[in-house]
Amino acid sequence: MDPANIDDLIGGGAEETCRMSAEGVRETWSTRIGFILAAVGSAVGLGNIWRFPFQVGQEGGAAFMIMYLAFVVLIGFPAMLVEFVVGRKTGLNTVGAIREFAGGAWKYLGGLFVFIGFVILSYYSVVGGWVMRYIVGSATGGYVGPPAADGTPQAAQYFGKIAVGWDALFFHALFMLVVVAIVALGVQRGIELGVKIMVPAIIAIFGVLAVYAFTLSGAAEAYSYYLSPDLGYLLENWQSIVPAAAGQGFFTLSLGMGVMITYASYLSEDENLAIDGGSIVVFNTGISILTGLIVFPILFSADVDPGDPGAGAIFVSVAEALGGIPLGELVGVLFFGTVAIAALSSAISLIEVVVSYAIDEFGVDRLTATAIVGAAIFVLGAPVTYDTVMVDLYDILAAKILLLTGGILLIVLVAWLSADEALEELEKGVGRLGSNGIVWLWVVRVPVLIVLVVSLALGVIEYADFLTGDFAEFLGNL
Ligand code: TRP
Repeated sequence: MDPANIDDLIGGGAEETCRMSAEGVRETWSTRIGFILAAVGSAVGLGNIWRFPFQVGQEGGAAFMIMYLAFVVLIGFPAMLVEFVVGRKTGLNTVGAIREFAGGAWKYLGGLFVFIGFVILSYYSVVGGWVMRYIVGSATGGYVGPPAADGTPQAAQYFGKIAVGWDALFFHALFMLVVVAIVALGVQRGIELGVKIMVPAIIAIFGVLAVYAFTLSGAAEAYSYYLSPDLGYLLENWQSIVPAAAGQGFFTLSLGMGVMITYASYLSEDENLAIDGGSIVVFNTGISILTGLIVFPILFSADVDPGDPGAGAIFVSVAEALGGIPLGELVGVLFFGTVAIAALSSAISLIEVVVSYAIDEFGVDRLTATAIVGAAIFVLGAPVTYDTVMVDLYDILAAKILLLTGGILLIVLVAWLSADEALEELEKGVGRLGSNGIVWLWVVRVPVLIVLVVSLALGVIEYADFLTGDFAEFLGNL
């Protein structure tokens, strides 16, 4: 993100403030809410609405929930502060920030972040395309109808049709085109406006759907599945729950690839990083919890095993619900329209890391960089539209391996190798942290790092199992 563009991004006004950084005078967020909104815009997205419910479904419900909540608070929040510290301290984009923060081989960490953004956006865009397809499907009532002879709900059949093939490829292209257009034209300001509208809209529409879900026959069973943890299940299945919770925690908070570094680079020094991070975490988690309150009652009422639809959970369940409420088409268009905006504002944060790197590294202009990067990401994502197993191929790698690796390396760099600078930066805007700062440092240094390393190891094992199991089977059937 170049400084010239930040004004567009944050919709900065006359009250712009400036401060000195490595590059000289650099703009900062004109209002604190501008930064929080942009960070929330990045965090709230398909991770909350699409990925979260299917992780819960696949990992046994409330047992996952409790682990996930613990991870978000005890690991996600401190890890977010690590990124904030690097960003505000250097006042640079991700790659530049890492380069300035540390020499030697550490400079490759910036390259890793760019690579991760590239991979995530490639399949994120396919799912974003499904969302766009569902806007159309809602308007035409495409997913409303009687179940098939074998009892498969109409919504599930519909998802099966549009999730792969030409439909999926076309909407994947459309989603990337919109992302590229927004970033190339520098109309992020429009997106910020979108975020301001989206946040209340999500809460309102999701609130209505959650109330509707509450009236369904399966609601009681669903709430107990979703909210009352079975510790026995957790103890038996921790090897798969732990990496899933860690991966989801990083994915949903946009951690592990430097997005929050870039955003914090525009913060002024009197900003309290801990309070900002806390608000973002609380808000983002609230949206996920609300999404679950919609999805699970619907799945239970339709007698669908919550783990079954996998990546289709949200599409199948919400579509089912929309078929059953008054004005379902209209609510559907609003719902998927809102989700599309949430997905776009997240996608922009992902592509920006790659684009700003391309501009710096190859000296191309913003338009060229964005177009080339967008086309390349489209190509990388295209195979995902061939079969839904490809979503797992990309997603497990990204969330349970790449993001965790990025997070671990950044924590080693910041909390172990640059502790004094990190603490000093964290104290700005807060006053002396005293023992709180030391607590943060040691929490990040030891328990957080250990949990992340264990999660990563389990994630690698899981990926190896997937590659030799489901994926090998898929390849065998080609
Ligand atoms: N957090 C976003 C979501 O939940 C996705 C996202 C945006 C992201 N930027 C990121 C995930 C950076 C990981 C890293 O949809």
